[in-house]
Amino acid sequence: MNATVLSAINEQINSEFEASYTYLAMVVFCERQRFLGAARWLRMQSDEERQHAMKLFDFVLARDGAVDLKAIDRPKTDFASLSAVFEQALVHEQRVTIRINSLYELCFQEKAFAEMTELQWFLTEQVEEEKTAREIVAKFRLVKDDPAAILDMDRELGARSAAGAGERRRR
Ligand SMILES: [Fe+2]
Ligand SMILES: [Fe+2]
Repeated sequence: MNATVLSAINEQINSEFEASYTYLAMVVFCERQRFLGAARWLRMQSDEERQHAMKLFDFVLARDGAVDLKAIDRPKTDFASLSAVFEQALVHEQRVTIRINSLYELCFQEKAFAEMTELQWFLTEQVEEEKTAREIVAKFRLVKDDPAAILDMDRELGARSAAGAGERRRR
């Protein structure tokens, strides 16, 4: 594997584990506020992010590269409200998309064709993840501070099915 590409993919592995950790910190907040539906949704999201990390982890090993597991920063744990959690999630996913795009650009420049193919899955996944987060945020902006509507949102989030769009694509 090209050393520059390998190093950048190792950064992305770290970033996916960091995402998993970030969502887990959101789970703590939601569980403590008794938003159990949102907590369930976020827990599943945290699991998905770990799977993203493991997808690249396995890819690097399959390419006979050395996986470099780096330190994970302490995630943000305080949020002003349930809607603030999802606003944060959307910003986070938008940042991840930018990272994946630059990683793809690097692979293109380095003519790392196998890596480009692997990363195509992540480009598609980010479209889905941003779309989902954007839709949730739009609903929260609509209901504002209405407690009954927020509880409805929590219930709706709790109904997230295990086989989301990302899950289906992986099979
Ligand atoms: Fe991810
Ligand atoms: Fe994500």
